[in-house]
Amino acid sequence: MSDFQPRIVVFACNWCSYAGADLAGVSRMQYPPTTRVIRVMCSGRVTPGFILEALRLGADGVLVTGCHPGDCHYISGNENAVATVEKTAQLLGLLGLEGARLRLEWISAAEGARFARIMTEFTGQIRALGPNPLGVSATQDAPLAGLESPSPQIVALDRS
Ligand code: FES
Repeated sequence: MSDFQPRIVVFACNWCSYAGADLAGVSRMQYPPTTRVIRVMCSGRVTPGFILEALRLGADGVLVTGCHPGDCHYISGNENAVATVEKTAQLLGLLGLEGARLRLEWISAAEGARFARIMTEFTGQIRALGPNPLGVSATQDAPLAGLESPSPQIVALDRS
């Protein structure tokens, strides 16, 4: 299990968290390379379906990120994200998955170091849980193949 490299899907809001992830990259901050960042216009745009689809396609963990409370460019989108993540974590329990595979964090455009730190922490947390037993990659050697050939939901993300 020690060579297990968790695959983490990050939904990052365009206005804050995606810029924070970009800052981490351009500042050459180190974080695990198995991260896939998907840009959405707001954390409130993420639905339970997006999260479940990422897990179905082989993600070992999903991180939803958005603007800090009070900073959402759509006023209350990040409040909706809190409800979505709580609801989806309960669904994961019904599916036999650990709720700890899903996490919500606020990351501003200036917080590249915070993005890198959270990614490192979350990857360690997922590594301790082990591979996602429900993902397609648990039985196929095609990591996140579906995300490289996006499902309709992921295509919808690109258009937002
Ligand atoms: S615009 Fe960033 S969370 Fe809404």
